[in-house]
Amino acid sequence: MKIAIVVFSPSGNTLKVAEMLKKELVKQENEVQLLDITRNREIFKTGGFKDFLDKQLEEHDLLCIGGPVYAHHLHYNVQDVIRSLPRPGGKWGKLAIPFVTYGTISSGIALHEASVLLKRSGRKTIYGMKLEAFHCMSRLLSIQVGKGLPDQGSLVIIRELVKRIGLLNKTQWGQASDITPTLDYQSLIGKLKAKCIFRERFWHRHIYPQLEIKHDSCKLCGQCIKACPVQRLMIIKGTVAMSQGPECIHCGECIRACPVQAIKFQCDLQKWEHLFAEAAEGKGPMPSRERPKSSIYPFGGL
Ligand SMILES: Cc1cc2nc3c(=O)[nH]c(=O)nc-3n(C[C@H](O)[C@H](O)[C@H](O)COP(=O)(O)O)c2cc1C
Ligand code: SF4
Ligand code: SF4
Repeated sequence: MKIAIVVFSPSGNTLKVAEMLKKELVKQENEVQLLDITRNREIFKTGGFKDFLDKQLEEHDLLCIGGPVYAHHLHYNVQDVIRSLPRPGGKWGKLAIPFVTYGTISSGIALHEASVLLKRSGRKTIYGMKLEAFHCMSRLLSIQVGKGLPDQGSLVIIRELVKRIGLLNKTQWGQASDITPTLDYQSLIGKLKAKCIFRERFWHRHIYPQLEIKHDSCKLCGQCIKACPVQRLMIIKGTVAMSQGPECIHCGECIRACPVQAIKFQCDLQKWEHLFAEAAEGKGPMPSRERPKSSIYPFGGL
């Protein structure tokens, strides 16, 4: 089978999963192309997902599309990638598998959103996969939520997915059923929370802490610029600054990359420590109650 994997992965968890998936698929003699769109200047400077995918994606029967869960949603860049896909036909396959990683708190409505969009693009979602992962926001805190994930346990689930892909033979592709309703697994409260409270762009603009750059400490080394997954930072008039264009997605990659701690989030770290500590215990405003934590759909329960 010819399989394309497209992934957006600001802090590397979903990319790690995509690489594991590719390795397992290749072992089963599939032809696999892995396209990582993170930090791609062409895409994020011009906003041209459509042209980029058209140029870069090779012929495939099955498209696996992966990204992180941000604020209970499929990251909006991944949603935009799916919206940019042309209808199936020619080199574009009809079958799709969305997969997400999330920081153990909630996968929200991400997989369902992905499959609804894939359906609108004329594709059929045949499986979905969610994997719990290290919560990249907690990297800046003393509480490390989901440390070490994805791991060998994730690999077991990925292998199961690959096995199920292998069970589909070419004659059955047309009959494979669309599993979109199965991915609507959140409770009514979970769905309402995602739709009414966790509105991703609103959170990025108004709730998540804003970045502060200490220009007198900055050595202009450019590490933060290289690290930014959406190419948000650039040097303007001799200082590092936010560019026009893609908005900051609060991944913290620039903070991690800076060798002299010249960038930080303007926030009360203690408040965030407290929130994450509560979440890890299943309490507070964002309790980590999702069960199963990692799974393949439609069969789940792994
Ligand atoms: C701004 C932001 C919002 C996030 N929202 C959620 C969330 O709603 N639920 C959750 O469990 N994890 C959440 N996470 C954690 C990521 O989903 C998790 O770390 C994911 O594996 C990151 O994928 P990546 O390494 O491929 O970027 C969030 C992380 C960030 C930076
Ligand atoms: S500016 Fe920093 S926090 Fe914002 S998206 Fe870029 S790397 Fe992430
Ligand atoms: S990584 Fe730090 S020191 Fe280097 S350019 Fe960015 S802010 Fe300045």
